[in-house]
Formats: sequence, structure tokens, C-alpha cells
Amino acid sequence: MLPARLIAVATCALGVRARKLWATEPADAGNIIMTAYPLGNGKLGAMPLGLVGEDIVVLNEHSLWSGGPFQSPDYIGGNPPAPVYTALPGIRETIWETQINNDISALYGDPAYYYYGNYETLGNLTVKIAGVNKYTSYNRALDLETGIHTAEFKSNGAKFAITTFCTFLDQVCAYNIQSNKPLPDVTIGLQDSLRSNPSSNATCDANGVHLRGQTQEDIGMIFDARAQVINRPKRATCTSSHGLSVPSDGRTTSLTVVYAAGTNYDQKKGTKASNYSFKGVDPAPAVLSTIEKASKKSFSSMYNAHVKDHNALFSQFSLDLPDPEKSASVPTATLMENYDYDIGDPFVENLLFDYGRYLFIGSCRDGSLPPNLQGIWTESLTPAWSADYHVDVNVQMNHWHTEQTGLGEIQGPLWDFIIDTWVPRGTETAALLYDAPGFVGFSNLNTFGFTGQMNAAVWSNYPASAAWLMQNVWNRYDYSRDTHWWKTVGYPLMKSIAEYWIHEMVPDLYSNDGTLVAAPCNSPEHGWTTFGCTHYQQLVWEVFDHVIEGWEASGDKNTTFLETVKETQSRLSPGIIIGWFGQIQEWKIGWDQPNDEHRHLSHLVGWYPGYSIGTHMWNKTVTDAVNVSLTARGNGTTDSNTGWEKVWRVACWAQLNNTDIAYTYLKYAIDMNYANNGFSVYTTGSWPYELAAPFQIDANFGYSAAVLAMLITDLPVPSASKAIHTVILGPAIPPEWKGGSVRDMRIRGGGSVDFSWDSNGLVNKATLHNHKEAIKIVDVNGKVLIHQ
Ligand SMILES: *[C@@H]1O[C@H](CO)[C@@H](O)[C@H](O)[C@H]1NC(C)=O
Ligand SMILES: *[C@@H]1O[C@H](CO)[C@@H](O)[C@H](O)[C@H]1NC(C)=O
Ligand SMILES: *[C@@H]1O[C@H](CO)[C@@H](O)[C@H](O)[C@H]1NC(C)=O
Ligand SMILES: *[C@@H]1O[C@H](CO)[C@@H](O)[C@H](O)[C@H]1NC(C)=O
Ligand SMILES: *[C@@H]1O[C@H](CO)[C@@H](O)[C@H](O)[C@H]1NC(C)=O
Ligand SMILES: *[C@@H]1O[C@H](CO)[C@@H](O)[C@H](O)[C@H]1NC(C)=O
Ligand SMILES: *[C@@H]1O[C@H](CO)[C@@H](O)[C@H](O)[C@H]1NC(C)=O
Ligand SMILES: *[C@@H]1O[C@H](CO)[C@@H](O)[C@H](O)[C@H]1NC(C)=O
Repeated sequence: MLPARLIAVATCALGVRARKLWATEPADAGNIIMTAYPLGNGKLGAMPLGLVGEDIVVLNEHSLWSGGPFQSPDYIGGNPPAPVYTALPGIRETIWETQINNDISALYGDPAYYYYGNYETLGNLTVKIAGVNKYTSYNRALDLETGIHTAEFKSNGAKFAITTFCTFLDQVCAYNIQSNKPLPDVTIGLQDSLRSNPSSNATCDANGVHLRGQTQEDIGMIFDARAQVINRPKRATCTSSHGLSVPSDGRTTSLTVVYAAGTNYDQKKGTKASNYSFKGVDPAPAVLSTIEKASKKSFSSMYNAHVKDHNALFSQFSLDLPDPEKSASVPTATLMENYDYDIGDPFVENLLFDYGRYLFIGSCRDGSLPPNLQGIWTESLTPAWSADYHVDVNVQMNHWHTEQTGLGEIQGPLWDFIIDTWVPRGTETAALLYDAPGFVGFSNLNTFGFTGQMNAAVWSNYPASAAWLMQNVWNRYDYSRDTHWWKTVGYPLMKSIAEYWIHEMVPDLYSNDGTLVAAPCNSPEHGWTTFGCTHYQQLVWEVFDHVIEGWEASGDKNTTFLETVKETQSRLSPGIIIGWFGQIQEWKIGWDQPNDEHRHLSHLVGWYPGYSIGTHMWNKTVTDAVNVSLTARGNGTTDSNTGWEKVWRVACWAQLNNTDIAYTYLKYAIDMNYANNGFSVYTTGSWPYELAAPFQIDANFGYSAAVLAMLITDLPVPSASKAIHTVILGPAIPPEWKGGSVRDMRIRGGGSVDFSWDSNGLVNKATLHNHKEAIKIVDVNGKVLIHQ
């Protein structure tokens, strides 16, 4: 039913098999987050429900947050008002005497001045088609390759096709209704029935429908949204309830609504020179001009340009697994409900992999914030954990799958976020709390540079969050070898974090072994405040290694700094200490317990996604210890039962070449933690468990990363090593994926590799593209496939 022109574009963008989520009924307005299919262009998010006759599209705008300077002029990013670093020697003294000091409250910011805020939904686009309610032949689908959402049905003897997408190029979302008969009256509106203090203002005029509101009276963040009908017909009128009505003319069969939104948040105003205000201009004029431009375009030109733009990113990579059960022809909700980890379904396993890439393209584009805990998608005014940026695994995990699948270049929002919102206030925090150079932040950040430490050390005392993110920074350079980016963006961040840790790694005066340790430290969300948490020792070692490895390309001429880095790295207390039951210790003191199934795998960060442990992969003592630690941590059920903890486990087992456990846990994660629309959610209660909100996008992105870890192991070669760069293809490909293949897997140093495997999952064919350096590519048995 789409015009022939559109169909042509759609089909030529499609691969062998459609990669789609689809359903035979509308989404559930009572459970939007687990049933609607998401669209996004980085800044704007949309969840069309596909309701017949009275449709709703839930709308999001990436920057719409309460809190921060939009809540109180006293907001200071969670910092203490004056230096507190004089408390540090006393805190450390107790640690040297007793191993532990759980009272580090002197370093906390004052909760009365947090004003942390949270991400908020914006409102709804409502679309009514008069007289349409009963329907047959319903189909709702999201095409991951084109970024197009459709809802098709028959009603009153006519066929309807509703096509929705959010385009990066025009910075709007578009909603097209098409029928094979003249359209009935159509009325559109913008709705916010959630806010009351103050309520939002809905109006309608020549520029369409308009919704304007504020997160709170007076200084709250202002948002502004408009929807207009393309080539608005003269007969269109505003209704008494601020809707825009387009009466039937008995001829027209197609109508398109475009939608735009903005806020007065300005990420570039997070500096001292801007008084950390984050306040930008009133969004109304920009929203109006965006909508005016878009409403003069044709739907098909916007559609075609969008499909091309989206597909150019999506098709950077492909994974093709078999579909032995012909699952492509089964509605997605049925597949998800029937999915059983005892059996599995390669089609679903492939679909969720593609979905992780799709969602990233939808929530991370130039000019947007990086994806938050829910990407950009929420229907709520108060999403769980503020839908913020948790930097003790979640933000990092959101980006684990990007570089290898050709999405590395659209991670600009992450670097901008660090530089614009984190560095300025975090530099103050480093000085106030530690008298240290560089910058620091803790477990969680908002969009207003909340870099202070909250008041529960067990989870809030996590100053290594930026060090962990430096893995993502290094990967950007290592896969792209973009020296300009490294010199101007990556290396300056890396150097700041190295400087911070040169200052903060202190002599271990408990063991008196001449090594340097982090103190006070908490392993993320686990255990006591102590010293030498191995997670920190591993990460800081890697930061130093990146400085050394990237030194020549950095253009830095200060060799004194380089020497300091090398010397400090050589004195670090090791990140690998093998403990009393053969485990990798989580702390310098061997408190680990073999039945501790804590959700985080913090002491294995150097195994996956890092490499400070992995570089010893040839040493069985080390890999056995990784195995023991992983075995002890269980399958990610007992503690919180989240998706992200399961997929992290999968990646770790895959890198041990343990196909059975990796694949079992991957299937188990799907069974336990993914909703009917593919979003990763929590499970509640006990067996048989119930899927339930909150939605957390980390396990969508992390799922794709876990599958990648089953397909390839490609670790950095440490700066001091003379080993040849060796890539293992298919460390954990199960026989169930027989007949599968991968196209354009990016590898470190640039270029990519295509490969496929035999019926046992053993890679037997590999082709290298555009890689200029020496490399050895082997299968899981060590057989050399390529050596150059
Ligand atoms: C900067 O912010 C502080 C604290 O919020 C406020 O007292 C001061 O008036 C602001 N200064 C300017 C120039 O806006
Ligand atoms: C959007 O629509 C949903 C479903 O009807 C409703 O629950 C929600 O409150 C609406 N959101 C706003 C901001 O009005
Ligand atoms: C909504 O309208 C009221 C009454 O005109 C006005 O006082 C208020 O500022 C408006 N809200 C916004 C966010 O513009
Ligand atoms: C060079 O690095 C050293 C060690 O980090 C530092 O003390 C010194 O100030 C730096 N010199 C210059 C010119 O920046
Ligand atoms: C293997 O690792 C263990 C534990 O770190 C270490 O003690 C041992 O020396 C390593 N083996 C070799 C051959 O380096
Ligand atoms: C690793 O642990 C798993 C499960 O605990 C076990 O089945 C497997 O044999 C171990 N592998 C090695 C190499 O020790
Ligand atoms: C996961 O662990 C739980 C709790 O230890 C156990 O009941 C369940 O059988 C395990 N499932 C899988 C797939 O390993
Ligand atoms: C996985 O297999 C590769 C290739 O045979 C081998 O080099 C590597 O050491 C293995 N990893 C582990 C943890 O055994």
C-alpha cells in the first residue's frame, strides 16, 4: 500500500531476510514499555502504540530532565562547598590499621543540595481517525534495517497503513496515514496529562498544535513541542480542545504529521564561565523553524532520505544465523513468550543482536546526549534510577558493541558528555575531595555534571568510573586509528585520568610490600571500604598502558610524564591475585566466598571487557582462576536477576572458549529478561518469575556485545609485549548456529574480517579487509586461518 517508490527503497535496503519485530495487535496502553516498538533519531524518541482510530505516540526528548540548576540555584553538582581532602590521611590511617574504614562520610556531598533530578517523558501525540475502531487484518512492525514502524489494518471496508519514523536528517518524527479510500476526518493533538505543577499548555494555531511545559514553576526546564500537518490543507481547523482537525474532503487518501521538540537545556553551558547553568535559549523558535521546514517537504522524500541514512549505519555489519524453526513468520511476542533456554532459537538470538545495534542508532547521534539507562525511551515522569548514567558498568556496557559493528563513529555524544558535563565539575571534585589533578566522578551522573559523591560508600564510593570509561576511549582510537581524534579528544581525557591516578595510587601501608594501591576504594556496589580493590588495580593499569601505547600518536612531548606513568604502572599492586579457593581476588585481602553470587563481576573487568587479565590467556593458572571466579558468581539469578549481569557473564565465558556455558547463559538471559518488544527488563518474584518493568537498555546493548564475544576475541596487545596481534574467531559458536556467517567484523588496528563456520561452530573461512598491520587470525583450536 505504500507508493511504489517507497517500496523500492525498502526492499533494496533489505537483506536476505527481513529483520523485524512484528505483532498482530496494537501495543498495550497499560504496559507501553514492554509492548511498544521504539523509534529514535538520537534527540527525539517515539513509541507508537498503533492503536486503531485513537492512536497514541509516546514522545521523548533526550535532554528533558528535572533537577540540577533547573531546580535550585544552590545546585553544585553534589560537591561539598569547601575542600574536604584534609580528611583523607585520617581515613587512610584507619585502613592501614584495620584493612577497612566504612566511614568516609567526610567525602560526601550534602544530600540537601543534591537536586539530582531525573529524565522525564515529554507527552503524547494523539491521532484520531473518525469512525474507525473495529478492525481486521492487523499488523504492526518495526523494521530494524530501515528504522520504519508500520501499523496496518482494515476498518470500515478500507485499508489503512500508518507509517512512523524519526529522522536524524530533518530532526523530526513523521506519522503518515494512508488509505486506499478517501480518509475520514483526522484530528491530531499533543497531550500531557501527567504534569500538574505546573500543567503544560496545549494550544493550536496556524503552526499546528503546540505543547509547552516546564519541569517545575519558575526555574524549571522548559520544553516545547509542535506537530503540524505537511502541506496543511486550508480546510484544517483548530478544535476547542486544542487539537488540529483535518476534515475529510472525500478525495485525499494520505496525510502526514511531523513532530519536533526541544528544551532550554544547553550541554555547552556546563562550564564555570557559564556558571554551570546548563541554560540555553528558549526552544520555541528552533522548534517552530524545524517544523516549518519539515512541513514543506514531501513525506516520500523524508522517508527515502531517512531509510538511506539509517540503513547506511545499520548495514555496516551483519550477522546471519539460521532460522531452522521458520521463526521469521511468527509474531515476535509469541517467539519471546515461548522462548525456552533449554531449546533456544537462533532467529531470536539474531534478532536481539540486531536490535541492540538498532537501538544504539536510535539513541546516539551527533548532538544528542549518550543513551541513558533507558536509551531515550520512557513513558514515565519518574523512571527507575532517574534513567540516569550509571558509570559502574551500565554506561560502559551501552557502548561495548559499537566499535566491532561499525557504529564507533556515532559515539560522539559520549565524548561530548564527558567533556562538557563531567570534566568541568569533576575537576573541581577531584580538587575538593582529593587535592588531585585530573577529574573524577562516582557511580552515577545526571546531565548536569553531578560529580560529587553520594552518601552510601558501598555503592557511591566509586572514583574509578572514569578509568573504566577510558576503555571505551581507547577502543575508539584502536579500531579507528583516527590520530586527529586521539590527539584532540581521546588522549587529553586519558591523560587527565592518568594524572588523577598517579596522584591517588598510594603506598600500601597495610601490607608494606612497596606497591601502590587505591585507597579508600569500594568494589562497585559490593563489600567494604578498603584498599587495593583489584577492579581499580586492573583498570588503572590499563589506563597507564593506553597512555604508553598511544604515546607516539598523542603528540605529547613531556617525556617526564611518560616516565612517571611507566614507573607508576610498574609499582601497582597486581590486579591478579589468586586466592584461597583458586579465585581472582576481588580485594587485596582475600575476603571472597565461593557462594557469593553478587551481580557485578568487578574483579573480572580485566578479563572482559578489559585485557589486563586476558593478556595472560595463555597462562592456565590465570584462566583457571577466572573460571573459578565466574563459577562462584553463578548465572546471575540470585542477586537482582537482571539482564545486564547475565550478558556480562556470557561474554566472560565466551572468552574462556566455553561454548556450552556461554550459549546456555545467553539463552537463559533471553528467557528471563526480555519483554515482548525485546526490551530488557527486570524479573520479579521467584520461579516461574514474572517479567516486569523497569526497562534497562544496558542488557539490550550488552546482549549484542555478549554475542560478539562468542564470535571473536580481539584483545589489545599490551605496550610492553612483543606478541603479535592475535585474533581468535569463534571462541564460542554453538553448533545450533551452523550455516551462519559474519560480514565486516571490525578489528583492532583498522579493517575488518568476514567469516563463517562449519556445522560444529568451528570457523573455517575468513577474509581480511583493509588491515595494514601484522596479524594472526586463528580458530578456537589455534589453527592459523590468516597470517600477515
Ligand atoms: C552563579 O551561581 C551562583 C550559585 O548558584 C549564584 O549565586 C550567582 O548569582 C550566579 N552568578 C551569575 C553571574 O549568574
Ligand atoms: C500518554 O498516553 C499513555 C497511554 O494512554 C498515558 O498512560 C500517559 O499518561 C500519557 N502521557 C502523558 C504525558 O500524558
Ligand atoms: C502556560 O500558560 C500560563 C498561563 O498563560 C503561563 O503563565 C505559563 O508560563 C505557561 N507555561 C509555559 C511553560 O510557558
Ligand atoms: C611534565 O610532566 C611532569 C610529570 O607529570 C609534570 O610535573 C610537569 O609539570 C610537566 N611539564 C610540563 C612542561 O608540562
Ligand atoms: C601464571 O600466572 C601465575 C599467577 O599470576 C603466575 O604466578 C605464574 O608465574 C604465571 N606463569 C608464567 C609461566 O608466567
Ligand atoms: C570451568 O568451569 C566450568 C563450570 O564450573 C567447568 O565445567 C569447566 O570444566 C571449567 N573449565 C576448565 C578449563 O577448568
Ligand atoms: C541459575 O541459577 C539458579 C540459582 O542458582 C538455578 O536455580 C538455575 O537452575 C540456574 N539456571 C541455569 C540455566 O543455569
Ligand atoms: C581459546 O582458544 C585460543 C585458540 O586456541 C587459545 O589461544 C586461548 O588460550 C584459549 N583461551 C582459553 C581461556 O583457554
